Amino acid sequence: MNLSRSLFVAVAEVNLVGYARNGRNLYRSVQQIPVRLLSSKKTSKQIDLSNFPPDKIRNFGIIAHVDHGKSTLADRLLEITGAIEASASNKQVLDKLQVEKERGITVKAQTASITYYHKGEEYLLNLIDTPGHVDFSYEVSRSLAACQGVLLVVDASQGVEAQTLSNFYLTMDAGIDVIPIINKIDLKTANVDAVCQEMEKFFDIDRKDIIAISAKTGINVESVLEAIIDRLPSPKQHLKCCNSSGPLKALVFDSCYENYKGVNANIAVTSGKIKTGDQITSHFLQSLPRSKTTYEVKDVGILEPDFHSTGVLYAGQVGCVYCGMKTTAEARIGDTFHHVGTPVEAFEGFKSMKPMVLGTMYPNDQSEYINLKKSIDKLTLNDSSVTVHNCNCPALGAGFRLGFLGLLHLDVFKQRLEQEYDATVICTTPTVPYKAILSSPAQIKKHGSDEMTISTAGDFPDLSWIKTFLQPMVTGTVMAPAKYLEAVIDLCERRNGVEQSLSYINDNRVIVVYRLPLDEIIVDFYDKLKSVTSGYGSFDYEDAEYEETNLAKVDILLNGKIVPELSSVFNESKYQRMARQICERLKETIPPQLFPINIQAVVGSKVIAKSLIKPYKRDIFQKLGGGDMTRKMKLVRKHKDEEKRLRMIGKVTVPRNAFVKVLQE
Ligand code: GTP
Repeated sequence: MNLSRSLFVAVAEVNLVGYARNGRNLYRSVQQIPVRLLSSKKTSKQIDLSNFPPDKIRNFGIIAHVDHGKSTLADRLLEITGAIEASASNKQVLDKLQVEKERGITVKAQTASITYYHKGEEYLLNLIDTPGHVDFSYEVSRSLAACQGVLLVVDASQGVEAQTLSNFYLTMDAGIDVIPIINKIDLKTANVDAVCQEMEKFFDIDRKDIIAISAKTGINVESVLEAIIDRLPSPKQHLKCCNSSGPLKALVFDSCYENYKGVNANIAVTSGKIKTGDQITSHFLQSLPRSKTTYEVKDVGILEPDFHSTGVLYAGQVGCVYCGMKTTAEARIGDTFHHVGTPVEAFEGFKSMKPMVLGTMYPNDQSEYINLKKSIDKLTLNDSSVTVHNCNCPALGAGFRLGFLGLLHLDVFKQRLEQEYDATVICTTPTVPYKAILSSPAQIKKHGSDEMTISTAGDFPDLSWIKTFLQPMVTGTVMAPAKYLEAVIDLCERRNGVEQSLSYINDNRVIVVYRLPLDEIIVDFYDKLKSVTSGYGSFDYEDAEYEETNLAKVDILLNGKIVPELSSVFNESKYQRMARQICERLKETIPPQLFPINIQAVVGSKVIAKSLIKPYKRDIFQKLGGGDMTRKMKLVRKHKDEEKRLRMIGKVTVPRNAFVKVLQE
């Protein structure tokens, strides 16, 4: 069956019916394709949220693999419902951050409330556009807590990809309904039939439930709106109790910091109502040993996608509240807001994320430390999956040891610090959290456990204390065209992966699962995979606990003296290569002195790499002005002795940029 053809016909019908029924403005897609969609601009000033009881509300997320078209679909939904004017310049309007616009990816889930008429009734729809990249999956899981359903979008030319699957599993965990959508049917390479088959196979859904659309051109997008209302449950059906006359209970599923207004908390109200002037508190605040645990609601409203004050939010609705909170300690994601004096049972909260990648950030100049601290505080409020600890390095000063969910996450965080807070930082080479199992009773007593985490070389224990080292592992899923199977296997095996399973999705595509050490994939695995599969491979991974390994602490000696800041911990399979790299980098960056500088990388007492910086040349015969060979040789001997003496007593000054170069790359 040629589904895309039949859907084109269906689209025309849906739109004509919609136009006649609603009698609203004719919407012409910006690409000038013959599809009619409808607009009904309604500003929040006109919105009376009391007109939307739970059965007139649908809260849904849009999830997909990277670039399958979530944000573009959100653009069309906002245009059709009149939340934004239809315009050719509407490209991923919910991607508001500069980093999102520059990289063309969503990194922050974004909420927008829209209204839509269906069968003569007006509905309040709350959509959450989520990121697709695995490093931001925490955004997806949190957003799903505020939804009763999702649009699962799959690219018609790419099919189901690794992160489509992991996002789908998140919806299963959240126990919410799915509307399967095939997007980009306008592409010449679209293969709707094959993608339908894949979706049937992976998601156990019926082909007739799949909606094929083009988010870019607008084809069939209005039928997505119809399906949202017809097929997704209202908060009342999903939450069972969802009553505006009950006590206030609201889940904080996101928050961010705004200059002047302070913290803005995104909430999903599951019972009661919250209005300006209310005195609220939360389960977490009540548990704190501090005086300020209650707050007055300064403003409350919905996101359209910008904040619009409505003065009140009722049960089943999703919106945003300002109550003068200033720090992360006050607005905790996963917390339960309730009225002062009316306690309610708390939500379970969100599972805290385990950092996968560790990086240390130092201010460019120590005078900027306080500002950097404030900036990191505000940014972590916006991204609670980042963990922060203070640290200090004699060469680079005071800084922060941060934990991220992946390398892209780290990169984006750094870029946001620079762009949104004007804070430039020195960021050290990312590493992963290793562990040591201790055998020494004295050390076990000291650490309060037989397990210690090794985040930096400074944490590396004496070998006599330990039983074994552990490294974090992941289960990596690769989906790729079958013709690249050999290259994928080769790549995984070179990265010390162990095959778990291999299966064919159809004749042309395979899915391969490997168990891999995390430190083998954090840096460039994804880029390599893209390169060996000509861009068609997709990758997703999840935490797979720890596994025994051998670690080595590589120390750097300059003329026999250890430089502690340059020590690092590496996996056995890497330390030789990394040690050579460090020696070479130091050779390039330390300026020559009057004496030679021996650079040695050692593990214990064994030298595993070395290089030499020759002294800069002086014309020792300059003052001689002539003379015979014996005098010259005497001078050469004297110079050599002097070099030797200097090498013994001379202090090698390692410039800051040498530290930065070694620690950063
Ligand atoms: P992430 O948030 O980074 O995961 O991406 P996304 O899923 O939000 O995808 P996005 O909407 O940013 O679209 C990715 C690219 O696909 C953009 O270049 C869009 O213009 C394009 N695109 C989206 N939908 C369609 C479509 O229906 N047809 C065509 N031809 N291109 C589309």
